[in-house]
Formats: sequence, C-alpha cells, structure tokens
Amino acid sequence: MNVRRETLAYLTAVARSPRTMGSVAPSSPALGRQLATVVPSVGAPVVVELGAGTGAVTQAIVDRIPRGGTSVALDVDPAMVSYLQVRFPTVDVVRADAAALDEVLSARGIPAVNAVVSGLPWAVFTPEQQSTILAKVTSALAPDGVFTTFAYLHALPLAPARSFRRALRAAFDEVLITRVVWNNLPPAFTYACRRPRRPRRAQPPN
Ligand SMILES: C[S@@+](CC[C@H](N)C(=O)[O-])C[C@H]1O[C@@H](n2cnc3c(N)ncnc32)[C@H](O)[C@@H]1O
Repeated sequence: MNVRRETLAYLTAVARSPRTMGSVAPSSPALGRQLATVVPSVGAPVVVELGAGTGAVTQAIVDRIPRGGTSVALDVDPAMVSYLQVRFPTVDVVRADAAALDEVLSARGIPAVNAVVSGLPWAVFTPEQQSTILAKVTSALAPDGVFTTFAYLHALPLAPARSFRRALRAAFDEVLITRVVWNNLPPAFTYACRRPRRPRRAQPPN
C-alpha cells in the first residue's frame, strides 16, 4: 500500500467535497481490519462495501474474503472510484449512491448479501437519508447477514450520532458496540448489527 498516495487522494477528495467525505483522514488499517471481521473467511460470501473512499477498508476485505467470494464496493466520488478500480482489480467497484444499493445488486443478479461494511459519513446525512440507506441495507442482507459501520468516539454524545444509533436499533434486532480503535484519526469504534428487521408487509383486509 502506498500511504502517501492514498492520503493525497483522500485529501484531494476532501478539498473537493468535504461534506461527502465526512472526515479529514482515511481510515487506518486497524479500523479496516476491525470492520472486516464480519466478512466470512470461508465459503463463497457476497460482501458489499458502502463509501469505499481510498480503500483502507477495501484492503482489509480483500485480505479476508476467500477466493470464491464476491466483493462489490460503492462510492459516489468519481475520482475515488477510478482510483479503487485500478488499486483493486478483483473488486467490482461501482460509482453509485448507497441509496441505490438495490439497483446495483439486481443489475448483478445478486439476491442476498452476507455482509455489508460501511465507511459512509453517517453524521453528515439527515435522519431520512440514514433511514433510507439502512432500509436498503436490511433488504439486501441475508437473514443471517451482518452489517458493520464505524463512528468517531468524540462525536458519540452529539445529536447526529444519537439519531443514527436509534436508526440502527430500529433496523436491527442486535446492535453491538465494539472496542475503541485508538489507532485511527480520530479514534473510532464500530457497530456490528445482526438480524435485520424487514419492513412489515401491509396485511390484506379480512
Ligand atoms: C469517510 S470517507 C471514506 C472512508 C474510507 N474507509 C477510507 O478510509 O477512505 C466516506 C466515503 O463515502 C463516500 N460517500 C459519501 N456519501 C455517499 C453515498 N451516499 N453513497 C456512496 N458513497 C458515499 C465518499 O465519497 C467517501 O469516499
């Protein structure tokens, strides 16, 4: 990995679009590894990464996913997507909004996903955007699938972080907060979410 090249690519994207990036530095390899622990290391899993950025987490997914697995990565930033396509030839890197996850999967004939790993800047999204994307994630996951994402420690008591935690608990039956990754700028922790709640279907009238 070329850290200088990755940091430069990241800072260029931050300068271009600070709100879309949501942080001043790429995720550390330690945070990437912690997020990627939900990726099954056996079988032929399908893994989706949302907001892949410069690929710190993508690298950890590539390191873990078995040979028969499928890895799809989404990002809205065209420069990040071009960079990732060159850096990770085995990953299907798509320029798409996370809110279009269903369209990306159906275009590839993927009916269900084993793990969704997110690097999205949830704190800059409105509660409606958060719920829309989480609904796409819960619909995409297999019943035993796992969703993981991170948040910054210092932002924990702030309103956007609290609203996101509520949205996670509404979307999943189990939401675990893992240990703090101090070796990240700024320090972060991860959420591991299981048993996606499906939206209730309307009941037919009696
Ligand atoms: C915190 S940064 C990337 C983190 C990544 N792990 C890294 O270290 O580079 C967030 C990324 O999410 C992308 N992003 C923001 N909003 C998005 C959306 N609605 N759909 C998909 N990607 C989005 C940004 O372009 C950016 O690359």
